Amino acid sequence: MRRVLVINGPNLNMLGTRQPEIYGSETLSDIETACREKATALDLEIDFFQSNHEGEIVSAIQQARGKFDAIIINPAAYSHTSVAILDALLACDIKVVEVHLSNIHRREEFRRFSYVSKAADGVICGFGKQGYLLALEAAASFFK
Ligand code: DQA
Repeated sequence: MRRVLVINGPNLNMLGTRQPEIYGSETLSDIETACREKATALDLEIDFFQSNHEGEIVSAIQQARGKFDAIIINPAAYSHTSVAILDALLACDIKVVEVHLSNIHRREEFRRFSYVSKAADGVICGFGKQGYLLALEAAASFFK
C-alpha cells in the first residue's frame, strides 16, 4: 500500500475558529477525518501531522524519505518565507502536492509567492477542505 504524509503548518491547529470567513468553520480534526476516509477509498495509507515549528516540519520531511511515497503539504505562512522547507522537500526525493485552503492568489500580495511551490509537483488552492481530498486523488494518480 502506498503511504502519504499530510503535513500542516502553523496556525492550522486553529481552524474552526481562525478567520472562518477565509478558512471555513471545519476544524483540522474534521479535515483529518475526511482525509482518512478518502485515503481508505483510494487504497492509500496516511499519516497526518501538524506543527507550528519550522524545524519540526523540516525534520518530518527528512524522516519521510524512504518511508512515504508522497507528501501533501499545507505549509501555511511558511509557504511564503521558508527556504528551509523548500530545501527539505527538494532533498527528500518524494512526490509533493502543495495545498492551501484559501485562494492565495486572490489575497494579499505577499501570499501570492510560495517557496514551497518550487518543490511541488502540483498546487491546489482555494477549495477549502476539498483541496486536501483532491490532493489525495493527485497522489493516488502518481502511482497508477
Ligand atoms: C494558507 C494560506 C497562507 O497564506 C496562510 O498563511 C495560512 C493558510 C491556506 O491554507 O489558505 O496559514 O496556507
